[in-house]
Amino acid sequence: MTLRIAPSILSADFAALGAAVGVVEAGGADLIHVDVMDGHFVPNLTVGPLVVEALARVARIPLDVHLMITDPERYVDAFADAGAAMISVHVETVTHLHRTIDSIKARGVEAGAVLNPSTPVSALEEIARDLDFALVMTVNPGFGGQHFIPGSEAKIARVRRLLDDVGNTAAVEVDGGVDCSNAARVAEAGAEILVAGAAIFGTSDPEAATRALRAAAEEGVGAGVAPEK
Ligand code: DX5
Ligand code: ZN
Repeated sequence: MTLRIAPSILSADFAALGAAVGVVEAGGADLIHVDVMDGHFVPNLTVGPLVVEALARVARIPLDVHLMITDPERYVDAFADAGAAMISVHVETVTHLHRTIDSIKARGVEAGAVLNPSTPVSALEEIARDLDFALVMTVNPGFGGQHFIPGSEAKIARVRRLLDDVGNTAAVEVDGGVDCSNAARVAEAGAEILVAGAAIFGTSDPEAATRALRAAAEEGVGAGVAPEK
């Protein structure tokens, strides 16, 4: 498995997003995670395709666009046109998930499905074969800087096992409260893509924090078999 670090620009200085991207790229980031919020599905409002398009002009690494919006299928084309390399939608927001996942893939974009903390892993059972990645939320979405929900490692492991059971090598992504104190545990549980906002942009040196998070996560890679349950 290839560990990927995805700094979330939600905690960056929005007056200087281009510079923020450059700093974490220098720190070895693999992806830029962009949190799109609509004030409906989650209580917060953030950015749309215009900002993704601006980021795509400066980023040398792929943009991972996390849609926390109702009716995400309406915006797949706009975010694909804007330059997203990955788009994920919450299973809680989509009625015809296969159709939405297919519409993302049809644009040549990697398609992911996201689970809120209270959504069971079984919600992915019928779509597991079709996913390019699966995202496990480890906070209730809407805000950066929240605490990792204890025990989420077991859910990460269950999602990994579900993908394995259907023969899908798609990555598991983890998002919410990830920092150096839990990175090894989530990686050990099977997370390959680690999103981090506050743990990177909330520090005085986001470049060093990006490196530190990777180093912390690497301690968990291959450390053992994912925990049961
Ligand atoms: C939460 C977002 C996250 C958030 C992570 O709703 O989806 O991507 O930016 O930020 P931290 O790492 O600060 O929890
Ligand atoms: Zn996110």
